[in-house]
This record gives sequence, structure tokens and C-alpha cells, in this order.
Amino acid sequence: MARILMIFGTRPEAIKMAPVVHQLAADDRFEAVTCVTAQHREMLDQVLDWFDIAPDYDLDLMRPNQTLAGVTARALTGISQVIEEVQPDTVLVQGDTATAMTGAMAAFYQRVPVGHVEAGLRTGDIYNPFPEEVNRRLISVMGTFHFAPTATARHALLNEGHAAGNIHVTGNTVIDALHWTVAKDHPLSLELPEDQRIILVTAHRRESFGQDFESICLALKQIAERFEDVRLVYPVHLNPNVQEPVHRILGDVNRVDLIQPLPYPDFAHLMNRAALVITDSGGLQEEAPALGKPVLVMRRTTERPEAVEAGVARLVGTDAQQIVGAAAELLTNSAAYNAMATAVSPFGDGRAAERIAGVLAAGLS
Ligand code: UD1
Ligand code: UDP
Repeated sequence: MARILMIFGTRPEAIKMAPVVHQLAADDRFEAVTCVTAQHREMLDQVLDWFDIAPDYDLDLMRPNQTLAGVTARALTGISQVIEEVQPDTVLVQGDTATAMTGAMAAFYQRVPVGHVEAGLRTGDIYNPFPEEVNRRLISVMGTFHFAPTATARHALLNEGHAAGNIHVTGNTVIDALHWTVAKDHPLSLELPEDQRIILVTAHRRESFGQDFESICLALKQIAERFEDVRLVYPVHLNPNVQEPVHRILGDVNRVDLIQPLPYPDFAHLMNRAALVITDSGGLQEEAPALGKPVLVMRRTTERPEAVEAGVARLVGTDAQQIVGAAAELLTNSAAYNAMATAVSPFGDGRAAERIAGVLAAGLS
């Protein structure tokens, strides 16, 4: 039996690791052990509740407005102690956060093989997204099992010289999580007016803090003011660098609902009800296509070119006029809207966790 230690700490990592936790816990070839850094606290706990995961280790290390160095240092120290105690055969990390990077590094320092879920995403620009592009490259360097969500991610890893035999295309586990969630009965808390088109908004990227974030907020304000049958629903990330400009610029704008981060099933329901998604989130670029929702991506570059190539996502940057122009086109031109809404999701079939377990099991024999 192989002891697999899964390490995660933020909301998106928890959502994307949850299917793997469920899969390994139900398979008697594995002893599944979970460690959360709680780099996020409330937003992580929402996910743990929904997926019914009680972590074996909780480092509880979030601090208000934490710095990259602070959270990284605390995570590396805390995770190292857990690895020392658990003595896992393999450590799994997901994505590109401080938790994922330090989880891989702590494992590497103790010569424990690392499996990287969602490996091979690249923009080629170390400052976009910041610091995630560097985090995920470092994890690839330290990793043994690279679980690439798509063929594009596999190619990126091959181009960097990683051995083909260590790269496994699995699909993205976010699709597993989404299927699991929509299949469950859940009383939904959110009531939305039937006669309004809903635009779902999220934004939180560090590289946009400051002027770009103000520009994003001004664009959202203009969209709300211009389209009277449109309501913007924006669950605001708890990062204070996000909360401050969002509430200052959008707090009093008609038909803009600023709400608390939603539990995952409520959020999935809201995505399903939305006409359009405007975001800088990584995960939403994968989920929205799976639900047939056009996505405008408020970033300079994306590590998910598959969504753009499939025609379901458009990169609009952070310039207010670009964002408003792209949203206006989709809200007024039904041919343009339908072309984006009928494209097909390139991110997997919802069986990524099963494939990851298969690879890990094959590694045992
Ligand atoms: C982190 C990740 C980013 C990921 C994002 C997902 C790093 C460096 N960044 O960014 O890659 O895309 O999560 O959301 O790993 N906070 C709370 N409660 C919460 C969560 C956050 O109060 O439940 C506040 C705290 O003040 C915290 C701050 O947000 O210090 C920032 O959290 P942090 O994890 O450092 O950065 P994110 O911007 O969330
Ligand atoms: N999400 C959620 N509730 C919310 C907003 C987002 O459950 O109020 C989910 C969303 O469905 C996606 C993930 O959180 O799976 C995205 O997280 P985030 O945007 O914070 O991080 P990123 O994907 O950019 O790393």
C-alpha cells in the first residue's frame, strides 16, 4: 500500500484536489493522507465542507494581507515537519500557488517523489501571472509525475526537456469536481431576477493590483451603467487588495451585486445561470467552457490557450475600453455570442482523478 500525502491550501487547489482525495481514499491500494496549509482560511473551509474532507493536518497559517515571503516561509517550514512525520511514498501538489511550490520543495528536500496535478501550464512570462508562472515551473523541475491536463500542457513540458514517460495527460480535475457538484442535490441560497441577464465577475490577480485593478472596476461600472437589463454579480475575493478598490468603485453602482465568496455548489449554479463570465481566474477559464458560457479574460496573457483556441474564451487585458467593448459586443450581437457559447470544452471528461490514481498505482508495481 502506498502512502500518498496530498498538500493544498487555497480555494482553487482544494476544489481541484478534492476529486483526487476522494479517489485515493476509496482505493485500498493507497493510504490517503491530507495536509492543508490553510493559506486561505474561510475560502478553503467552504470547499472542505462541500467535498466533506477532514484534513489529517491543518497548518492554519493564513495571516491578514500576508506577503509572498511570509506565507512561503511558513508553508515550507510547516509542510517539512508534516512530511517528516508522515513519511509518505509520494507527495501530490496541485497548480501553482505558494502552497504547491513549497509542498513540492519540502518533499524534494526529503527526497520524496512529487506528483504535480495540473502540470505544464505556461504563459512564457515570469511576471504574468505573478508569482504563479515561476511557482509552476519550479514544481516541474522538482516533480516526478507530471499530470498534464491537456496535450498543450504536455507539449510545454516536453519542450522543457521533461521525459515523455513521466508526463501523463489526464484532463483537468476541475471538471471532475464540477461533475460531482452538479450531480448532487443542494438547496441553493441565491435568488436572481428572471428578467435580467447575469454577468458573473471574479478578479483577484496579484499582477493587476493597483492601476490595472482600478481599470477593471471602472470597466465593470460602465457595463452596468450602459446595459439596463444586465446585472453583475461579483463574489469578491477576501484579499484586502481586492476588497478595497472593488467596494470603493463599485459599492454604490446600480445592478452590481458585491457578495461574499460563495460555496462551490452555489457558485457553480451561478455560473450556469450567467449569460457571460468576466474574470481573471484560472479555474473559471476551465469551468465556464464546460458549461458553455463565454469567458472574457481580464489578463494580458493566459496559460490556458486551449479555451481561446476553442473559441469560448477571449483575452481582453485590463484596459477598461477593451473590456467594455468586448462585453458590449457579446451583449448586443447574438451571432458573436452564440459562436462563443456553443464551443466545446477542451479540459477533460471528468475522469482525471481516476487516471491519476491509475498512474500512481502502476508506479507501485
Ligand atoms: C492565492 C494564490 C494564487 C491563487 C489564489 C486563488 C499564491 C502566491 N497566490 O492568491 O495563486 O490564484 O490564491 O484565490 O499562492 N484571505 C482571507 N480569507 C481567505 C483567503 C484569503 O482573508 O479565505 C485574505 C488574507 O488577508 C490573505 C490574503 O487574502 O492574507 C491573500 O491571500 P494569499 O493566499 O496570499 O493570496 P491570494 O491573492 O488569495
Ligand atoms: N469559486 C467559488 N466561489 C466563489 C468564486 C470562485 O467556489 O465565490 C471557485 C470557482 O468555481 C473556481 C475556483 O473557485 O473553481 C477559482 O478560484 P480563484 O479564482 O480564487 O483562483 P484561480 O482559479 O485563479 O487560481
